[in-house]
Amino acid sequence: MSVTVTCDNGIALVTIDNPPVNAASHSVRLGLEQALRQTEADDTVNAVVLHCMGRTFIAGADVKEFGQPPQDPALPDLLLQIEGASKPWVAAIHGSALGGGLETALCCHYRLAAAEAKLGLPEVQLGLLPGAGGTVRLPRLIAAERALNMISTGKPVSAQLALQDGLIDKIAAGDLLHDAVQFARSIVGKALPPTLLSRPAIKPKDTAAFEAELSKIAQKAGAQDAPKAIIQAIQNALDLPPDAALTAERRAFQILRSHPQSAAMRHVFFAERNTTKIDRLKDVAPRKISTVGVIGGGTMGAGIAAACLLSGFAVTLIERDQNAANQGAARVKATLDGSLKRGMISPAKHTHLLAALSAGADYTMLADADLVIEAVFEDLGVKQQVFKHVEAVVRPDTILATNTSYLDVNSIADATGDPSRVIGLHFFSPAHIMKLLEVVVPTAVSDAVLATAISLAKSLRKIVVLSGVCDGFIANRIMSAYRRECEYMLEDGALPWDIDTAMTEFGLPMGIFQMQDLAGLDISWAMRKRQAATRDPSLRYVDIGDKLCEQGHLGRKTGRGYYRYEDGKTARPDPEVEALILAESKRKGITRQGFAAAEIMARILSAMQTEGQRILDEGIAHNAADIDVAMINAYGFPRWRGGPMYMADTQARLGKDTA
Ligand code: 3HC
Ligand code: NAI
Repeated sequence: MSVTVTCDNGIALVTIDNPPVNAASHSVRLGLEQALRQTEADDTVNAVVLHCMGRTFIAGADVKEFGQPPQDPALPDLLLQIEGASKPWVAAIHGSALGGGLETALCCHYRLAAAEAKLGLPEVQLGLLPGAGGTVRLPRLIAAERALNMISTGKPVSAQLALQDGLIDKIAAGDLLHDAVQFARSIVGKALPPTLLSRPAIKPKDTAAFEAELSKIAQKAGAQDAPKAIIQAIQNALDLPPDAALTAERRAFQILRSHPQSAAMRHVFFAERNTTKIDRLKDVAPRKISTVGVIGGGTMGAGIAAACLLSGFAVTLIERDQNAANQGAARVKATLDGSLKRGMISPAKHTHLLAALSAGADYTMLADADLVIEAVFEDLGVKQQVFKHVEAVVRPDTILATNTSYLDVNSIADATGDPSRVIGLHFFSPAHIMKLLEVVVPTAVSDAVLATAISLAKSLRKIVVLSGVCDGFIANRIMSAYRRECEYMLEDGALPWDIDTAMTEFGLPMGIFQMQDLAGLDISWAMRKRQAATRDPSLRYVDIGDKLCEQGHLGRKTGRGYYRYEDGKTARPDPEVEALILAESKRKGITRQGFAAAEIMARILSAMQTEGQRILDEGIAHNAADIDVAMINAYGFPRWRGGPMYMADTQARLGKDTA
């Protein structure tokens, strides 16, 4: 039974128990309908408390049911029935009340929440809009501006903010259920409050600012349908009678639910939760990690140290000398200062985190570390040497990780006395912000070390993708492949701004040439110079990047790269770059051709998919969905397109269906 009803001296407790997250599955909807009937018919019941077992309140509609034919009772109809109950319903919210879960709470007459509860309407992240009255009821309970923000971003709010906004009536002071039952007793005999649908919508205070916000959301949406449907639904909620707004919301939800964009986002939702379901680790317990050592306090080391501190680990940062260690610690502090400034940590927490950081040049400071992450220069010899120093001072069970971007993690492991404790933890920059962490699995690594690395990554709230050892692992290897393709297109007829525009119109956050200008062209130039001696001369090689670097045009930091940056940040097409590119095509005897945006993206996608397939064939990635997860979370591949491999698969299936 997913839903049970018990009675406690006039108060009915309706309990949902549908692990793992109490989704409003068919059985829950049936159970709630039955509970409503029972509590309405029972004269001894004066009020109802709705609560959930396990870790959370209802986390939304059951996303697994979305691909299947709908089954009655539909959530919107059920919620109308609850809203019309003759006895007060009190929602007791713990964990998360999300999507259909919050919509259920909105139909209860009162809402109490545990202090740590979160409330949100995240449907937009699944390519949807709230479909069980959320867009209509929320702006009748809280200010239209706040409702729009919650629904358009999908970001949940804390119980404290919810109380401030008027979304909930009370935060439980003690035990949630006990407080909810007490609250229910206190309202027995009082008139029911008016339903949300019978109240007027709370119009925006500043209409012009509200309209401007709507336009901003529409513009940011690009080709995505859900945000636009949300805008329309909010306007309906403010302008139409509630019944008409509800009908329109339901229709829009049904259209979006069967839309390819939502199917793609659901693919990503489940793919992100599957990346660490690994047979070999089924019965392996991770070790406890309390203290993390970080070697190298540059861009990555400082970011990794900050990420670890923010997740509650003590950090020891080691640099080449005390001066460099101080500079590294200052970088970490600057990141924590930023978190403080943005209100993400309190002043007390900021002080506490700084106290958990020690920095120096003496490797023996690592003696207590449970795990050490190396982020020194990208040089195999330097890294092997660093690992020798570390081995000499740490415990035999300390895990040794490298943040190398491209080097052979097996060669790093093999140079140590115990390769079974060496692993790759490939963070992306900035390390405390970027969601993806590639856990690179060398041949000899033990299951316990792998399980611990994954557990650490989850503590850091990262999305983990496992990768085998190869040049660039998954995300960077695919990025290198499509960057190469973009360079070929420069010689074949496109200009950097043609390619970048095609990429951003497709939904990527930045074009490849602007991205390289931002990172600095010298980084890949240094790598190309290192690889020059071993490069296969029969392979096509594009010299344009090297030539820009030789002229001292290293990207944004020098004011010139593939673009010109007159104000230091705005990228403008550079006629000299265009002339250089045309000259290179001529020098190689290539007749330049015109490229439409669609052709550019077709070549980029094909390069991604071909490299992705190679990665799969070599066993570097476990499955195609992991590659999608990596590309979405490392390089901002549009989530609503599902990832390059998903797109290839969908196209192949469509091709079969129409054949
Ligand atoms: N439906 C079905 N399964 C769900 C689910 C949902 N809404 N939400 C989570 N799950 C599953 C996950 O797939 C995972 O399954 P697995 O163990 O087999 O991999 C399991 O529940 C646990 O999920 P997480 O790993 O994400 O657990 P966390 O504890 O980290 O997070 C959570 C819990 C915050 C509730 C998070 O799962 C979450 O954000 N879920 C999505 C909520 C959501 O999007 N709700 C809206 C749904 S659409 C809707 O309600 C439409 C309505 O307007 C009509
Ligand atoms: P960086 O040059 O900013 O920092 C490297 C730091 O290591 C310097 O502060 C240097 O003083 C220190 N260092 C060098 N040798 C040392 C030693 N023997 N002992 C202690 N400290 C030492 O480099 P960055 O960008 O932080 O890169 C570090 C590693 O992370 C490299 O392997 C790189 O490939 C990798 N990486 C870099 C990313 C990026 O975007 N910059 C992304 C992911 C990985």
